[in-house]
Amino acid sequence: MHDLTPEDLERLPRHVAIIMDGNGRWARSRGKPRLFGHRNGVENVKAIVDKTFEIGIPYITLYAFSTENQNRPGEEKSGLMRLLEEFLKRELKNMMGDGVRLRAIGDLNGLPEFARNAVTDTIEKTKGNEKWNLTLALNYGSRQEILQAVQSYARKANGSGEDLNWETFSSYLQTKDLPDPDLIIRTSGEFRLSNFLLLQAAYAEIFVSPLHWPDFGQDAFIDALKNYTHRERRFGKTGDQLATTSTKSLPGNS
Ligand code: IPE
Ligand code: IPE
Ligand code: MG
Repeated sequence: MHDLTPEDLERLPRHVAIIMDGNGRWARSRGKPRLFGHRNGVENVKAIVDKTFEIGIPYITLYAFSTENQNRPGEEKSGLMRLLEEFLKRELKNMMGDGVRLRAIGDLNGLPEFARNAVTDTIEKTKGNEKWNLTLALNYGSRQEILQAVQSYARKANGSGEDLNWETFSSYLQTKDLPDPDLIIRTSGEFRLSNFLLLQAAYAEIFVSPLHWPDFGQDAFIDALKNYTHRERRFGKTGDQLATTSTKSLPGNS
């Protein structure tokens, strides 16, 4: 069964982040080029993002291109960038109609100009939308993000680390406008984070699906969410303590 009960709906994550992996293997298993997999992956992005907002989850972040993906063949990279541009241009109207705000994390300067323009243009046009939040991780690497945060903090703080606590530090991260992810899904059966949201994932629940991304459809997504709703997030406390505390008051659930 792929439906969410009223109890499940009460316990949904506020922020889901997805490492969309396996497009290449999906294509190879069909005797097709890798880009065929990426194209089908983009179709699935649409299906999953629509489902996310339809069931009322306000934040979704998608790992679309990592810093390390820059080491892939030029042809695959430019194909991915064209797909990104096409997706953004095609979806703008729906995003405006549905109240979706696009954000990006990662170093956009490392994208080709046409792709960067499509991203910044969509960010600009959707910045007044307040209902739903779609974030794309593009040329993103968590270690690079952390280094950049340290550098800009050091510049601002004039060498003194006196006021540095997590709240201050996290305001220098590229995710400063986003709550921490509650659930991180990775497709294609890989049990690793691959430089994605390393600090923000401190208390995220992790779900790994064996399905390749183009096959991870709405039913598989609902099953992952259902699995999440049955987890006990203890945040360092004991299970007994949780029985007497409302989960709403726990860190990360605000
Ligand atoms: C995920 O699929 C998409 C990107 C990383 C851009 P992959 O391209 O990594 O597919 P596999 O892992 O090689 O199958
Ligand atoms: C992680 O997938 C990056 C994205 C999904 C964009 P990779 O396919 O690049 O990860 P590794 O290399 O298998 O760890
Ligand atoms: Mg991969």
